[in-house]
Amino acid sequence: MILHKHFDVNEKGHLTIGGMDAVELAERFGTPAYILDENVIRANCREYLTAARREFGEDALPLYASKALCFTGIYKLAAEEGMGIDCVSGGELFTAKQAGFPAERIYFHGNNKTDRDIRDAMDMGVGRFVVDNPDELRALSKEASKRGIRQGILLRITPGIDPHTHKAVVTGNIDSKFGSAIATGQAMDIVKQALASDGIELIGLHCHIGSQIFDLEPFSDAANIMIRFIADIKRECGYEIRELNLGGGFGVKYTEYDREISYSSAIADIARIVRSFCKTHEIAMPRVILEPGRSLVAAAGATLYTVGSVKEIPSFRNYVSVDGGMPDNPRYALYQSQYTAVIANKADKPRDYRATLAGRCCESGDLLGENMELQRAERGDILAVLVTGAYNYSMASNYNRIPRPPVIMVKDGEARVAVRRETYKDLIRNDVL
Ligand code: LLP
Repeated sequence: MILHKHFDVNEKGHLTIGGMDAVELAERFGTPAYILDENVIRANCREYLTAARREFGEDALPLYASKALCFTGIYKLAAEEGMGIDCVSGGELFTAKQAGFPAERIYFHGNNKTDRDIRDAMDMGVGRFVVDNPDELRALSKEASKRGIRQGILLRITPGIDPHTHKAVVTGNIDSKFGSAIATGQAMDIVKQALASDGIELIGLHCHIGSQIFDLEPFSDAANIMIRFIADIKRECGYEIRELNLGGGFGVKYTEYDREISYSSAIADIARIVRSFCKTHEIAMPRVILEPGRSLVAAAGATLYTVGSVKEIPSFRNYVSVDGGMPDNPRYALYQSQYTAVIANKADKPRDYRATLAGRCCESGDLLGENMELQRAERGDILAVLVTGAYNYSMASNYNRIPRPPVIMVKDGEARVAVRRETYKDLIRNDVL
């Protein structure tokens, strides 16, 4: 096993992903290619659903935050597993619609929904809008009134939590483009506006404190602040908030230095905390919603590349260049995100070589990692970067006119193309002149 149990080594010494030989997958589908182990995503959905139903009752609905990985097949999978989804754009909504995802299980997010987004989402009949700000609330109310409907909404609230210092701070994260802050009084203002708005039914509150979080404390702080606020709303407005969406954010193991979280026990912990805060603040337990993205899909993925050049610069460093890079995975360039890499055709050999993993773009920042432990690499090797299921394909670009890789789903010894490889023709599809 390497990092997660679906990454292993077979008798040929090759990396396997969900039991399938990564070198054979690279030969069959070409490189670069995103590989996804479908069983891992399904098992993660089931873990969230089972735990949420156990802790919050049969109507619990975990939402898949589909910004993490978005294509029609993933929405079909989420629908089959009984998940809800979080969409953040007209494009995500359209993709979900094409996949036949049930609209009533869609929560529509975003801090700047356009009038067209609002109309499209209403045409689709999305279950809930997560309303970010007073301008959006007014636009939504106008459109809903015109249609003679009452749109169910959640309000996005900024609780003022910094998940990295693990503290609820008075000013921290209030300075955000998202939501309305409790500390400034703007959260209470928008609650009152929502209650007075035609065509709007205020159902719940939402907050999202951050991503790749391993500790419970920031979630507990957020729950405490949100439940206190729900109690304030009850006191001040006589109105009972029925839904509390605590966002996503659970961390994923990308390297040996990361911990692995049991999402099931984390959900049990959150449920216990929410129940006790509700008791303290004397409010009825709301329907609690979680909205994971990364933790559902990240570990399921790996990206396969072919090694091109290996350059050793004496007394500096070794560069191993591959046929992908920041266009298919911008996360190191953006956040210095750490990954684990393996030479798939030498996976049984020790990772005793240190290298900077470089992409093929004309830009020195186009790296997939620095100081990475690898097997000794040479031209023609297949290199796998593990745990690339989240925020890789969904953040991919065509920088340097590089076509996006395909997404290949593996399951029980079968591999299927879920998203085909872009062609050079695709690249000029929209060029008019
Ligand atoms: N809900 C809301 C409102 C969010 O903004 C996000 C992520 C999620 C749920 C899902 O969070 P997760 O469970 O995936 O941590 N591009 C960055 C991550 C950005 C996350 C944005 N919001 C990355 O590659 O690390």
